[in-house]
Amino acid sequence: MEQLLKQIDAYKQEINASAATDEKQVEDYRIKWLGTKGIVKAIMGEMKNVAPEKKKEAGQLLNEFKQYAEAKYEELKAASTGAVQTGFSMDISLPGDPMPLGSRHPVTLMRNRIVSIFQRLGFAVAEGPEIEDDWHNFGALNLPAHHPARDMQDTFYIQQNPDWVLRTHTSSVQIREMEKGKLPIRMLMPGRVYRNETVSARSHCFFHQVEGLYIDENVSFADLKQTLYFFVKEMYGKDVKVRFRPSYFPFTEPSAEMDVTCFICGGSGCNICKKTGWVEILGCGMVHPNVLSNCGIDPNKYTGFAFGMGIERPAMLKYGVNDLRLFSENDVRFLKQFTSAI
Ligand code: DAH
Repeated sequence: MEQLLKQIDAYKQEINASAATDEKQVEDYRIKWLGTKGIVKAIMGEMKNVAPEKKKEAGQLLNEFKQYAEAKYEELKAASTGAVQTGFSMDISLPGDPMPLGSRHPVTLMRNRIVSIFQRLGFAVAEGPEIEDDWHNFGALNLPAHHPARDMQDTFYIQQNPDWVLRTHTSSVQIREMEKGKLPIRMLMPGRVYRNETVSARSHCFFHQVEGLYIDENVSFADLKQTLYFFVKEMYGKDVKVRFRPSYFPFTEPSAEMDVTCFICGGSGCNICKKTGWVEILGCGMVHPNVLSNCGIDPNKYTGFAFGMGIERPAMLKYGVNDLRLFSENDVRFLKQFTSAI
């Protein structure tokens, strides 16, 4: 038995030192060690000389030795055919199966596009919670309890706590930014909002908005207009015309809605713009002094502008999507069509 052990050790060393640079040498190795008249076969024959009580142990040793010789053979074979030797019997240098690439959601693409334009003007990005308290969604925005303008947005209330709502707009994040007390503020706030509306091709119970807020000393309506002009030119091209219509939002004074010439028909009138030649894209205005004071900002020292726009509508127009529900159905046949780089 001891003899056998020694012999196996010596063989192992010899196997270990074996090398092969071509197929012929690999075959020589096979014949020498693993062939019918090879060493492995021969040493297996030694079993019959082992004492019965040692047979089990010897059997294991010999088996292990056989595997050792075989593993080396695989290794030499793989190396001589140029494959990478890994200790596995597979070739990891072969190209793998390609991973199917996903694509960004069209709403994400549009949001990134909007955000990147304002980032170039120095706006930073902030986010806020989707479950909001009444104060941030309404109260601080100059919409006290029972204010009729609360009816402008059908709100989801949360049963467990009557003070909580699913935010109806991203304007709530304006309040959170102002409350931080760091001025000036130049922020863009994208996010999902919720309204208790019947789901149809044109309205949904959740959608996305981007809010903008700029607060500093001496900010004027001219700054608001210039900022939005820049945005429109970058977003829709330099030939697009802009118009502001007076409007009402409790949190801005004065307030306006901004339209751009229809980017489908170029202003001549089509179904998308309901034959008017104009498409409404956002609401805006100068931040109401009450809103500033609600957030601890002195309205005599600071002024600012704000705006809010939906993301789905411009995305529908850009990508020719005619049903809002497609955005949230997660059908890959729909989603994989959007491969823009941004
Ligand atoms: N929060 C408004 C909405 O959801 C949009 C809006 C209008 C936001 C005017 C503003 C603004 O910041 O100044 O309809």
